[in-house]
Amino acid sequence: MDKIVIEGGKPLQGEISISGAKNAALPLITATLLTQGKHIIHNVPDLRDTRTMLALLETFGVHWERDGATLTINTENIAGFEASYDLVKTMRASVLVLGPLLSRMGRARVSMPGGCAIGARPIDYHLQGFKKMGVELDLDEGYVDAQVADGLNGCTVYFDIPSVTGTENVMMAAVKAKGTTVIKNAAREPEVGNLVDMLLAMGADIEGRDTDKLVIKGVKKLKPAEITTIPDRIETGTYLIAVGAAGGKVKLKNCNPSHLPSLLEKLREAGLSITETDDTLEVSRTGSLRSIDFKTLPYPGFPTDLQAQTMALMSMANGLSVIAETIFENRFMHVAELKRMGAKIRVDGHSAIVHGNGGLTGARVMATDLRASASLVVAGLAASGVTEISRIYHLERGYEDLVRKLDKLGARIKKIKEEK
Ligand code: EPU
Repeated sequence: MDKIVIEGGKPLQGEISISGAKNAALPLITATLLTQGKHIIHNVPDLRDTRTMLALLETFGVHWERDGATLTINTENIAGFEASYDLVKTMRASVLVLGPLLSRMGRARVSMPGGCAIGARPIDYHLQGFKKMGVELDLDEGYVDAQVADGLNGCTVYFDIPSVTGTENVMMAAVKAKGTTVIKNAAREPEVGNLVDMLLAMGADIEGRDTDKLVIKGVKKLKPAEITTIPDRIETGTYLIAVGAAGGKVKLKNCNPSHLPSLLEKLREAGLSITETDDTLEVSRTGSLRSIDFKTLPYPGFPTDLQAQTMALMSMANGLSVIAETIFENRFMHVAELKRMGAKIRVDGHSAIVHGNGGLTGARVMATDLRASASLVVAGLAASGVTEISRIYHLERGYEDLVRKLDKLGARIKKIKEEK
């Protein structure tokens, strides 16, 4: 297994380009299943998760090829409809094949995702939506077996909490259903908007993009689409926070600052200087860091996927920071690892109280999930001494070229083979 070694304390300088968003690319890839033909998706990051999703589609008989960041996906013939436990256990987003397969084949069998490092993460909203559309659901040997005899019917669904993949799954099932589907309290994340754009390009009839009410009128036929994946707002945020931690001045290109409203304000409050254009961000920190409080919320609130990285930053600030995690019940796995680096953090239920003490020290730490791993990289870049992060396969699920990009910014970082 590989590990990342960082010699901290070196400010970051220079410019890098942001990759396409993992959480946008995954539903765009599964949406190609909706109709026959050759679909083209640009700006797709080459990550463990996008590779896993393509491997899953291959098991259904889909062919694809990659040319740089552009994927051509040929969904002319589809044979299978089962997503096995082996694939779903490595990537929960595999459940995003349910909606498209039900729409195209009337049948899908997908391993039920178990709990994961950040919480129980049920898919009951997805299933309730399908059931209302006329799908018969069976839970058999750990698999959701879903079938619909006479095609899907439009319905109204309401989510208690706006669910990103739940909105995406039900919307994909609805685009060719009979009648109209209304999703109330829908997720408004930019990744959902990217999927709406792809479905519109395929000929779908959807109103309410970027709002909490999506109205989808079923159409008879769809056509293949060409679409560009939006820039990864979580990768963008992670590099902004890294500069906050290590200091220096960095320009991020090919990003979309309008997708990070809450983070930009919070980082400015913490003392970072940030200037933006439509597709670039320039960030620097010369003075000391101020403590800030924040609460994770559905978009446009503070993203849960940046909570761990921002907590690492707060552990180096001067003062007290109160962080509330309201999306996932177990998303504080990074706390124990950050403490090994000298952070002073106390967890109380859904909140963490961080006593910023101005600096961290390098240590051997272990990545527990994707964003927790990113928080350890942020901490390692700023810490005095050497930080060794093991289990970095988590990072490879979601950050394209992380080591190369940070190396380009002057960080002393390398990936090495871990001794057995
Ligand atoms: N929820 C339910 N029932 C459901 C679905 C969701 O109770 O059927 C609850 C969840 O337990 C959670 C809340 O609703 O409390 C929101 O979860 P959501 O469904 O929005 O999460 P998700 O769709 O499974 C996506 C991202 C996550 C990101 C969350 C929140 C993808 C592939 N994943 O997950 O990304 O944290 O939205 O923004 O889009 C990551 O990239 O590291 C990651 C975990």
